[in-house]
Amino acid sequence: MAEIELSPEEFDLFRAYIYERVGISLSKQKTTLVKGRLNKRLHQLNLGSFREYYDYLVNDMSGDELSLFVSAISTNVTSFFREGAQWKWLEGYLPQLIASKRNKKIRIWSAGCSSGEEPYTILMFLQHHLSDFESWDIKILATDISHKVLTKAIKGEYEAKSVEALPKEIVHRAFDKIRTENGISYQIAPHLRQKVMFRLYNLVTDPFIFKNEFDMVFCRNVMIYFDDPTRHEVIRRFTTVLPKGSPLFLGSSESLTTHRESLKLLGSSIYQRL
Ligand SMILES: C[S@@+](CC[C@H](N)C(=O)[O-])C[C@H]1O[C@@H](n2cnc3c(N)ncnc32)[C@H](O)[C@@H]1O
Repeated sequence: MAEIELSPEEFDLFRAYIYERVGISLSKQKTTLVKGRLNKRLHQLNLGSFREYYDYLVNDMSGDELSLFVSAISTNVTSFFREGAQWKWLEGYLPQLIASKRNKKIRIWSAGCSSGEEPYTILMFLQHHLSDFESWDIKILATDISHKVLTKAIKGEYEAKSVEALPKEIVHRAFDKIRTENGISYQIAPHLRQKVMFRLYNLVTDPFIFKNEFDMVFCRNVMIYFDDPTRHEVIRRFTTVLPKGSPLFLGSSESLTTHRESLKLLGSSIYQRL
């Protein structure tokens, strides 16, 4: 199959569109990556040039093509109990949270949840540490811009190798072992899946209309592609849904140099709402 070329003018069209719609800032060095990753898609759609693909992308009102484009140029890599130091920190913070919750209601947002490992880890963590877990009213809002990863997350089915590093006790309580065409896989137990509300949501362009606050927000390894103004605005929005004292978790390679008046670094890319 002949490779379709991407001219600098065509690249600029994608660059402007993706920045406006998703907040991802593509540098010129990403030309080869965009060309390489999208060539297969152009062939699938029987399109002969990137200009035609651009028209296809901007005219797709469903947003599915945008979500596919974003998945192709960014990473959805995730895993259970990622960023170990943060879970350790949460162990110490949990007694304080529990003590403040007379109504036994916990609300958490996993923003940029990818295929679900992050929101399900939150539940596994709480199940492990709360002896009366089932008597708590726990809801996780898990959002992502990619339709593809959300479909996987809702199913909650993972290959054996994704769970092999987890403690046996956690696997036993949180997963059902199932047989599939490809062998054994592990599906998150229904009583845990029910506690997660997965939604397609673009952190940059969708309206920020949340009626209630969250006890914590996870937005880890999502803003790596955003430029400073976009990151600044997304963080500002998070501060409006976090009550004082509650934590915001970012990825370990992400640090904040702004918002010092509203967020204090506690360590391991964990920030506390002031
Ligand atoms: C590398 S994954 C991180 C998953 C998880 N938070 C973790 O740390 O393991 C980044 C996710 O952010 C999502 N994402 C990127 N830009 C987004 C945006 N503007 N709005 C919502 N989600 C976005 C991607 O689709 C991807 O699934």
